[in-house]
Amino acid sequence: MDLAQLTRDLDALAASTRAGVAAAADVAALDALELEILGKKGRLTEILRGIGSLPVEERPKVGAVANVVRGSIETAFAERRTALSGRELEARLLAERVDVTTPGRPVRRGALHPSIQAMAEIAEIFGRFGFVVQETPEIEDDLTNFQLLNIPPDHPARDLWDTLYLDVPGRLLRTHTSPGQIRVMQSTKPPIRVLLPGRCFRYEAIDASHGSEFFQVEGLMVDEGTTLGDMRGLLDEFAHAMFGAGKRTRFRPGYYPFTEPSVAFDVECLVCGGVGCPACGRTGWMTILGAGMVHPVVLRNCGLDPERYQGFAFGMGPERISMLKHRINDLRLFLEDDLRFLEQFR
Ligand code: PHE
Repeated sequence: MDLAQLTRDLDALAASTRAGVAAAADVAALDALELEILGKKGRLTEILRGIGSLPVEERPKVGAVANVVRGSIETAFAERRTALSGRELEARLLAERVDVTTPGRPVRRGALHPSIQAMAEIAEIFGRFGFVVQETPEIEDDLTNFQLLNIPPDHPARDLWDTLYLDVPGRLLRTHTSPGQIRVMQSTKPPIRVLLPGRCFRYEAIDASHGSEFFQVEGLMVDEGTTLGDMRGLLDEFAHAMFGAGKRTRFRPGYYPFTEPSVAFDVECLVCGGVGCPACGRTGWMTILGAGMVHPVVLRNCGLDPERYQGFAFGMGPERISMLKHRINDLRLFLEDDLRFLEQFR
């Protein structure tokens, strides 16, 4: 091995490397070639191993040539790498380009369920008269759902509420929100003005006007000197706010074991205005809730003296209110989660 041979070998390596660099199609190919030439076991190292066989005074000269060759090879790699990665980036940008002028996908917006909307509206109206919303349990005991409401175990009035019993003795799913009255009167000193919305359950054959699961909103007011007239005035205000100012209303005698007297509260038919049509069964009236003065027995059951305190209570179905207001003819629509129905209530 002599100096001239080594120099030639180095020049040849430089030339073939430059050709290889120019031919590399992508960064990965370039990396592979770089390892092959400049790597620890690469061809440049291999050639330089020959230096050892040269006379000592010639070695620095080969060193100088080798450095120049290495520098030029490194430069060639660096320049090609910049060019290739630039091209790759450009290609990627082109492929991944977002067309900002394409129309967007609509965001599907949710809305409150019509039952919830109706309850919110009811709460808002009674809220103006000082009624506050309170929640009471869905799982009740026989005592609170019936007995303290003046419905003893064998009372025929139990037939009004087809009850779903739990397999825990004495426990049931509340059939109405009225047991909430008991809980409030047991725990709160009058004056009381509460609204008790919540889910109720009955063992019912399901049809257009009956469901086994539905909502009720209970109202209760207890104070000294509370009268049936107060209740009538309040319910009139409610009917007018909910269904329109000037709508005629009426009390009809009703029956509930926990109120005395008991009434049904009607509003003039919203379809015919009171003339009589199929929607109101030709009566001209539509019943919107049941109500009455809290029975003295019930007051006493909750530790309140009926000589001092009187109260009234009412209970309504928000679905029924919503059906009357929006002329919906089937209660099942409220339970079916059909978006074609639900999306109409935004
Ligand atoms: N709880 C009664 C029902 O389920 C409604 C009602 C409530 C009646 C309050 C009078 C007073 O039908």
